[in-house]
Amino acid sequence: MQADHDHGDLMDRVYRHQAAIYDLTRKYYLLGRDRLIDELDVEGDGTVLEIACGTGRNLIRIGNRYRDAQLFGVDISHKMLRQASKNSARSAMRWRIKLAKADACSFDPGMTLGQAQFDRIVFSYCLSMIPDWQGALAHAVPMLAPGGRIHMVDFGLQSGLPRWFGKGMHLWLSKFHVAPRAGMAEAFERLAAEHGLETDVRPLYRDYAVIGTLARPAA
Ligand SMILES: C[S@@+](CC[C@H](N)C(=O)[O-])C[C@H]1O[C@@H](n2cnc3c(N)ncnc32)[C@H](O)[C@@H]1O
Repeated sequence: MQADHDHGDLMDRVYRHQAAIYDLTRKYYLLGRDRLIDELDVEGDGTVLEIACGTGRNLIRIGNRYRDAQLFGVDISHKMLRQASKNSARSAMRWRIKLAKADACSFDPGMTLGQAQFDRIVFSYCLSMIPDWQGALAHAVPMLAPGGRIHMVDFGLQSGLPRWFGKGMHLWLSKFHVAPRAGMAEAFERLAAEHGLETDVRPLYRDYAVIGTLARPAA
């Protein structure tokens, strides 16, 4: 397992020349992010945390869609956080989005963000980049407020697409240290059983992507 700072350095190297152009280049292949935002269904001034928020693209859209939501984002990469900060200022959301550097697998939300629990927690195209992705998911479960939901979207295993496409895609993604995860639905089911949560995980676009939730019942 990589130490936190090693993985943070690696992410900074991956995004060194990409943070500024990231949103433009990812628009066409990080599919399902807007569907996830539609499904968040944040009520009133509900709290939303995006873990591994990257450039803040999702948080800004969430802020536009759910006007009173309180927004929080963490990421392990300084470069991505700097871009998120610029983007949120450009969208006049600098003061609505609280950003902090943190490792998804180990941060203390109270210490890092001044908020221990959240109504919605988002994992968007990051579990495929976090070596201990199951640890990151498990770490987020206690941060769910009663009635809260984790929402995840990421690369699927491309089982419904031609084999050559899937193989090429996996090879290309590996250059960016991205690995679509086998066993995503099983990991969600295990966490649901362990913590008394409800889960729903389904493929999108012939398994190009996978989208899912973990929901804590209201108290
Ligand atoms: C492909 S980007 C996705 C960004 C954003 N969620 C989106 O949907 O546009 C993956 C992000 O995960 C972050 N990341 C990777 N490992 C992480 C970790 N262990 N803790 C926090 N962030 C991490 C990277 O720095 C990067 O910003």
